[in-house]
Amino acid sequence: MSEAEKKLSLEVSRIRELTPRIRAYELRSTINTELPLVTPGSHLTLLFKTKIGKIEQRHFSICSNPNQRDFYEIAMLHEESGNSEFVFNDVAVGSQFECNIPSNNFHIHADASPAVLIAGGIGIASIISIAYTLSARGRRFSLYYAGRSKNEMAFVDELQKNVARHVHFYSAADDQRLDIMQVLADAPGNAYFYTCGPQKMLADIETSARLLGIAKDRIQQEYFYSQEQASDKAVVLELAYSNKLIHTKPDQPLLAALRDAGVNVNFDCCVGDCGTCAVKVLEGEPEHRDHVLSEAQKAQGFMCVCVSRAKSEKLVLAL
Ligand code: FES
Repeated sequence: MSEAEKKLSLEVSRIRELTPRIRAYELRSTINTELPLVTPGSHLTLLFKTKIGKIEQRHFSICSNPNQRDFYEIAMLHEESGNSEFVFNDVAVGSQFECNIPSNNFHIHADASPAVLIAGGIGIASIISIAYTLSARGRRFSLYYAGRSKNEMAFVDELQKNVARHVHFYSAADDQRLDIMQVLADAPGNAYFYTCGPQKMLADIETSARLLGIAKDRIQQEYFYSQEQASDKAVVLELAYSNKLIHTKPDQPLLAALRDAGVNVNFDCCVGDCGTCAVKVLEGEPEHRDHVLSEAQKAQGFMCVCVSRAKSEKLVLAL
C-alpha cells in the first residue's frame, strides 16, 4: 500500500456532547466511500493543522460499532492545554481531517474464555466496542469502569441500557473505589484482561497481576496520555550522527520535538504500544513509559520516543 493509500480523508458529520468535558465526533469519508473495516478497540490517528499552522497528530479510540462502515465515532476529552483545546473550540460539523488507516493494539481472544475489561476515564472509548463485541458473541465478561463522577463518565446510560448485567461503575465523587487487586484476584483463572486508562491505573494492574501470578500474555493494555497528568520537564536531545541539539519544551513528546526539528523518526501508535519509534540512547538515562520494549531491549539502550521521557537532563541519541 502506498503512503497515500494509507491515509483517509474524513469529515465531521455529527458532534455529540457526552459529558461536560467529553464529546463524540462522527467522521465520514469525504468521498462517500465505505470506510475500512475495523476490529474492536481500534484507534484512529488524526492529523490536523493547529492555529499556528503546525501539523499535529493525536490518537483516538473508535468507540462506534466496529461493523459500522459508513462512519467512525471517536470520543475526545477536553483538556485545558494541548490539542483538544483546538478541536473543542474550532472543529465543527463539516471540518475535514486527514487520518491514518485505523490500527489496533487489542486482539480479542478467539476461544470462549471469560474476559475482564477495566476502563478508567476516557479509556472507556477503547473498551466499549470490545464490550459490545463480546456481548454480541454471547461471551462471559465483566466491565469495571471508574471515573471522577458519574456526571463526567461517558457512555454510562448507553452501557446501562446495553450491557447492564456486565458493568460495574465506580465514581470517585461517590467514594466508590475500584479495587484493582480484588478485581484481578476474583477473575476466573482462564480470564483474559483488556484495560485502558491513565498510566497509574495501568501500572496498578501490572503490579497486581505480577503479584497474583497472572501471565503477561493474558493482559492487553492501552494507555492514554492526559495533558493534565503531565508534569514533564524539558529535555535536551543531542543527535550524535546528525550533529543537532534539540531543546524540547516541558510536556512536549520527544517524538514531536524530533519531527519538528526535521528529524525523520518512524512512528505508528504514538502511545508506546508498537515499538516503531524506538531509538538507541547513547548517553543519558531514559524514563521508559512504553508497554512494548523488553527488558533486554531497554538494557541495549532502546527507548520509545513517543511516550518515554528522560530522568537525566540530556539524552544523546543514535540519530
Ligand atoms: S510509535 Fe508506537 S511505540 Fe512509539
